[in-house]
Amino acid sequence: MEYRIGVISGDGIGPEIVREAKKVLDKVATVYGHQFHYEEILMGGVSIDACGVPLTQEAIDSAKASDAVLMGSIGGDTTTSHWYQLPPNLRPEAGLLQIRKELNLFANVRPAYLYEELKGACPIKDELIGDGFDMVIMRELTGGLYFGARETKEIDGVMTAKDSLTYNENEIRRIAIKGFDIARKRRKKVTSVDKANVLDSSRLWRKVVEEVAKEYPDVSYEHMLVDNCAMQLVKDPCQFDVILTENMFGDILSDEASMVTGSIGMLSSASLNDTKFGLYEPSHGSAPDIAGKDVANPIATILSAAMMLRFSFDLDQEADAIETAVKTVLKDGYRTIDIYSEGTRQTSCSQMGDLICERIK
Ligand code: IPM
Ligand code: MG
Repeated sequence: MEYRIGVISGDGIGPEIVREAKKVLDKVATVYGHQFHYEEILMGGVSIDACGVPLTQEAIDSAKASDAVLMGSIGGDTTTSHWYQLPPNLRPEAGLLQIRKELNLFANVRPAYLYEELKGACPIKDELIGDGFDMVIMRELTGGLYFGARETKEIDGVMTAKDSLTYNENEIRRIAIKGFDIARKRRKKVTSVDKANVLDSSRLWRKVVEEVAKEYPDVSYEHMLVDNCAMQLVKDPCQFDVILTENMFGDILSDEASMVTGSIGMLSSASLNDTKFGLYEPSHGSAPDIAGKDVANPIATILSAAMMLRFSFDLDQEADAIETAVKTVLKDGYRTIDIYSEGTRQTSCSQMGDLICERIK
């Protein structure tokens, strides 16, 4: 098969991790007889430097013309980078939010899985992790606080800032359906996370999720308040299968869930709309402190490429091959610095890509 893949290398460690993911995709292409054509798309800080804005119309058009987009990471050090002297709507993150909105990528799927080999890196006590855990965060991605009206102005001589959190029932329903659909293919449990004891948007969230749940009698569900969920993730992560939540709660909880697995460098993600199209990116950021040093962990991006093959191209066998290769590399004892522990073999970012390629046959 032949596919056009938009590639957003982005900033910080983005270019190096994307390079490794492309290496792995090229190996898959050779072994399974596919053709992947890559189209570079500028977004984030690199786009600001080249074009003055974090995302151009040309970049949006190119993403839309692709079968799927693979992304590294965008953004820089918020205290030192010149990008953060710009107005908020011209900063790197604005490009990411804009592409999510333009492409209607409302469903962000973030799996958090504890690899047997990485149990040592998990910060949670052995007796709490038992046989390990395997959850998916289904995060709403195009609504809520991220996209509500905001302003900062002086009121009666006092500087005042405002952000607004809006959800309508349709936005809630479509992400809830995605959450229940994915649960149906897994352990059939949805934990819907909100702050219904305080927020109106959460009370509507709860009502709509309950309506959707009626259509899925085979899937069990519960509601959980977000503060409790943050606690339960470190107290008993094994209880979760699918965590369904709104944009900002999902941003925070997915970082927490990933760290519970040992390293945020391992976690892939897919941002999907109602078509086969998706934008695939690691859950982690651009890590400007280690950029260009060839020490970043490319696994999250490589696993995101696997998700792309599975969700957008229906290439399940090829996706399995990548996931198995990653597991084998870990079993063989190779680790980038973020997951390194004594007795394992430390590798660079590019070596990790090579080792994974060698295991795709
Ligand atoms: C993420 C990131 C982004 C977000 C930032 C970079 C805007 O943290 O994808 O989780 O908050 O969505
Ligand atoms: Mg985040």
